Amino acid sequence: MSKQIAVVSGASSGIGAEIARTLAPTMSLILLGRSTEKLEQVKSELAGEGHLAFSLDLTDEQLETNVSNFFAENKIDRVDLLINNAGAFVRSAFSETTVETFRQQFETNFFGSVRLTACCLTLLSKTKGSQIINISSTLGIRPVPSTSAYSASKAAMINWSTTLALELSESGVRVNCISPGLVETPIHDFCGTKEADLRKAVDSMQPLGFVGQPKHIAGMVKHLCSEESEWTTGSNFVIDGGISIA
Ligand SMILES: NC(=O)c1ccc[n+]([C@@H]2O[C@H](COP(=O)([O-])OP(=O)(O)OC[C@H]3O[C@@H](n4cnc5c(N)ncnc54)[C@H](OP(=O)(O)O)[C@@H]3O)[C@@H](O)[C@H]2O)c1
Repeated sequence: MSKQIAVVSGASSGIGAEIARTLAPTMSLILLGRSTEKLEQVKSELAGEGHLAFSLDLTDEQLETNVSNFFAENKIDRVDLLINNAGAFVRSAFSETTVETFRQQFETNFFGSVRLTACCLTLLSKTKGSQIINISSTLGIRPVPSTSAYSASKAAMINWSTTLALELSESGVRVNCISPGLVETPIHDFCGTKEADLRKAVDSMQPLGFVGQPKHIAGMVKHLCSEESEWTTGSNFVIDGGISIA
C-alpha cells in the first residue's frame, strides 16, 4: 500500500515544521504555509520522498479554488491526515483591539482551518481511519489578559472540533485537538533570545520550569497517528507543562 498522505498547514515554521519532520519518514506530506522560501527549506530537510510544498494564504478569497487546483494537478485523490496548525497571535488589551483585529484573528486561526477542512473533507472520507488534528491553544480554555481575539478564535476551534468529531464518526474520520501552552517558536518575541534574564523569566513562569519545544507537540501528533489512538476522537489534549492547572 502507498504511504499515507498528510496535509500540514503552517508547516513553514515552528510547531508545523517539527510535525512535518516527525511524520516525514512514514508519510507523504503536503506542506502548506505562506512563505515559499521557508516551505522549501523545511521540505529540503525532510526524510522520506514525495513531499510537496504549496504556498498559500488561508485568508485568500481564492483558497478553495487554489487548493482544488493543487490537488488536481498533483493527482491527490485521498487525504489520510489533515493537521490544521497555521495560526497567528495578536496580543492587545480589549480596549485597544479593533473589530478588524478580531476578524483577522478569526480569519486565520478559525476560518482558515474551517475552509481548509472543507477543501479536504471528501478526500478525508475516502479512507477509513483518516483523521483531523486541530492545533488550538491553552488560551482557548483558560485565557489570560490581552489575548481576547486570539483566545476566542482558539476556543472556537476546540468547540468546532467536538462537533466535527461527532459528525464525522459515522464515516470513521477521527477529529482531535491539541492545545499547547507556551512553546518556543517564532510566534513569540522571546524565541531564540540571548537575553538570559528574559529567558529565565519565561522559563520560571512554567510549573515544570521550562517552556515547551515543538517536539512536545509533534510527539502528541505522532501518538494520535499510532494504532493505539484508533479509539480516540473528540478529545482535546492539553500539552502545556502544567501552566493551565497552576
Ligand atoms: N508557540 C506557542 O506558544 C503556541 C501555543 C499555543 C498554540 N500555538 C499554535 O500553534 C500553531 C503554530 O504556531 P507556531 O508557534 O509554530 O508559530 P509560527 O512559528 O509563527 O508558525 C505559524 C505558521 O502559520 C502559518 N500562517 C500564519 N498565518 C497564515 C495564513 N494567513 N495563511 C497560511 N499560513 C499562515 C505561518 O506561515 P508563514 O511563516 O509561511 O507565514 C507559519 O507556518 C498556531 O496555530 C498557534 O496559534 C502556538
